[in-house]
Amino acid sequence: MLVWAIASQKGGVGKTTTVASLAGWCQKENLRVLIVDTDPHASLTSYLGFDYNNISKSLFDLYTQNELSREKVLECITHTNFPNLDLIASSMTLATIDRKLSGRVGVGRILTKSLALLEDDYDIVLIDCPPVLGALMVNALVASTAILVPTQTEFLSLKGLEGMVRTFDIMKKADQNSNINYTVVPTMYDKRTKASRTSLEFLKAHYKDNLWSEQIPVDTLFRESSQRGMPITMLDAKCRGAIAYRNLLVCELTKELENHPDRITPNAAAIVSISDSETPNVTEAKKKNNDMDIMADDMGSMLS
Ligand SMILES: Nc1ncnc2c1ncn2[C@@H]1O[C@H](COP(=O)(O)OP(=O)(O)OP(=O)(O)O)[C@@H](O)[C@H]1O
Ligand SMILES: [Mg+2]
Repeated sequence: MLVWAIASQKGGVGKTTTVASLAGWCQKENLRVLIVDTDPHASLTSYLGFDYNNISKSLFDLYTQNELSREKVLECITHTNFPNLDLIASSMTLATIDRKLSGRVGVGRILTKSLALLEDDYDIVLIDCPPVLGALMVNALVASTAILVPTQTEFLSLKGLEGMVRTFDIMKKADQNSNINYTVVPTMYDKRTKASRTSLEFLKAHYKDNLWSEQIPVDTLFRESSQRGMPITMLDAKCRGAIAYRNLLVCELTKELENHPDRITPNAAAIVSISDSETPNVTEAKKKNNDMDIMADDMGSMLS
């Protein structure tokens, strides 16, 4: 079972959208997916159409139970309306968790231990993190086999990324055995704006080794999909935003195949091999897009 934390200390950079979109693709590929909403704002819980006031047991209950057991963890899971897509919901009470757990031994590993009890139940767990460094984020980072850091291509988000990388360094210092694999995912990229282009150049110059080679473009359908309470893949799997997330999924699974062959299930590994045989189409579509972009640029300068 793979566990991916989607984290950034900057708000509004596309964390929740990334979790929902990757979950949509995983579900579409018949993977068994568990989403964990660790943000007290519960955006992802609402994204999937739930009101946290109506959820009987949530992540708060998981963190505050006295003894961990598989039964108790299972009680905290909510089944969504979509097959193979489950949720551990958030609630506002999660905001008190730092205070509630302070002083308890092993606080940072509660989620790791809980998810270990579900090892055979899911192919992948996707964790949406709050934009603050605290027990909730540390639990998510420690539990994960890979970390995705969505970074909006604008100046302030680059600062947020710096903070995140510093956090990884601190974690490595705190635990020599920690194995942090992170990928910077440029989001809301709009190549027509100078801010996007400059930010991307900055990322290439400073985070080359950890930078995903593509970008998630601006796509208005993301807003619509959250309003309609469904991942973008269910609204329009062929729109450019959805296709970009599919490419991200394949790229991350390919890395996991190498980094964690023991953790990737055959179902998840199969997506990588299927996508390999599809590559010419994807490349062709991409080339077409690039050509269109080049032509549009050209025409733009002719018309200016
Ligand atoms: N690629 C995109 N194109 C257009 N809009 C986007 C894109 N990604 C996200 N958005 C929109 O940007 C807003 C912020 O996105 P999102 O909620 O995913 O960010 P977040 O990092 O989870 O924020 P927070 O830190 O508040 O939890 C949302 O309204 C979302 O619909
Ligand atoms: Mg969010």
